[in-house]
Amino acid sequence: MIRKRTRTRGGGGTPARGRLRAALGATTTALLTVTALAALPQTTAHAAGTLGAAAAEQGRYFGAAVAANHLGEAQYAATLDREFNSVTPENEMKWDAVEPSRGSFSFSRADQIVDHARGKGMKVRGHTLVWHSQLPGWVSGLGASDLRSAMNNHITQVMTHYKGDIHSWDVVNEAFQDGGSGARRSSPFQDRLGDGFIEEAFRTARATDPAAKLCYNDYNTDGVNAKSNAVYNMVKDFKSRGVPIDCVGFQSHFNPNSPVPSDYRANLQRFADLGVDVQITELDIEGSGQAQATNYGNVVRACLAVSRCTGITVWGIPDKYSWRSSGTPLLFDDNYNKKPAYDAALSALGGTPGEDPEEPGEPGEPGACTAAYTTAEQWSGGYNGKVTITAGSTAISSWSVNLTIASSQQVVSVWNGSPSTNGNVMTVRSTWNGSLAPGASTSFGFTVNGGTTPAPQVGTCTAS
Ligand code: XIL
Repeated sequence: MIRKRTRTRGGGGTPARGRLRAALGATTTALLTVTALAALPQTTAHAAGTLGAAAAEQGRYFGAAVAANHLGEAQYAATLDREFNSVTPENEMKWDAVEPSRGSFSFSRADQIVDHARGKGMKVRGHTLVWHSQLPGWVSGLGASDLRSAMNNHITQVMTHYKGDIHSWDVVNEAFQDGGSGARRSSPFQDRLGDGFIEEAFRTARATDPAAKLCYNDYNTDGVNAKSNAVYNMVKDFKSRGVPIDCVGFQSHFNPNSPVPSDYRANLQRFADLGVDVQITELDIEGSGQAQATNYGNVVRACLAVSRCTGITVWGIPDKYSWRSSGTPLLFDDNYNKKPAYDAALSALGGTPGEDPEEPGEPGEPGACTAAYTTAEQWSGGYNGKVTITAGSTAISSWSVNLTIASSQQVVSVWNGSPSTNGNVMTVRSTWNGSLAPGASTSFGFTVNGGTTPAPQVGTCTAS
């Protein structure tokens, strides 16, 4: 049985949660004074000092694979929260973790990661729905028609549980063979359902969560070769037939036997030219020192050179927790010191190594934020408003925004924020959702009675 998530912290927010009365200006007859007409970003004078902030300035995310069992380690969580604005659960969303026996779903470890990330305003990549590996034995034992319904049910249940939380899903992972054949890899799905299983998985995924980007993800497809050609032809075919696919993930696990290909950028670009986003999904590069740093810089520059390369995820935080720890393939050493590879990645993103406004003891500038208003719902007598707060290039720990409401209107509830009022002006301050990674967003909502116009006026966002 699926257990629908009950969130302790309201990512989606409903008027029912934490009703706070903030009736405003009910007796005032003065006309509304129009203040700021739009969100006013505050500017920061210096280049970004973290991976997430620097990537955000390039319109990208910079993520890390995260393991739930390390989140309790203070330095692990601090490094994650400071540097990254996207996470991928390393193992916790795989089939064996979430549906170990048929129809019995267990989301608690993955929820831990999603709740941590969402609480910090980070994005989450979903990994992965249909894969031959880390697949429980019961799946491989099914006949074709049972397997088809088990696959579709798995996709539906898992995506429904995380609906609204996941920006991109790896719908199908590693379905092609290595080597020159360009053939599909043997797997229970391929062997019993044939080539059509991939398309079916994507159609089921789209029907379940139309807002999530749907990716095909694989390795050894980073340069132009027989395997990437086979994936390319599949994506081209999907696009031409209207099979829903939005992105292709390039795992990018590199080592001396499988170095960063010289045509990496060109390969990303040819996929982008098919009309899909591309993402670097599991980056790690074995090595050390300057050689490793140069490779990391090259990978980041390749992504930035492709406008549809929307983000980079490294496959872990410190080397000691890498799945290939002996190759020291990550950006932080075992003590969470930044390696030369970190500096290279950050400079390639346009950030400034050495400058870290979030490091304790450093003066640092106050963070900046922006606030943007949308009407979420409206009816004859009122509306629900939503204000999205986005941190600037440094992390922030609290925010506050002024909203000017027409005197004919009353705010009857506010959620995911703490209101106080002064005449027609309502100030909403962060509660649990004050802490935002660079470039990360959160939102608060409110219900207004007394008509639908004029819309509230949003003042400047103030952060600390
Ligand atoms: C790896 C994890 O990092 C390991 O902890 C686990 O034991 C095996 O899987 N391709 C993928 C990832 O898509 O899910 C894999 O992650 C690495 C290769």
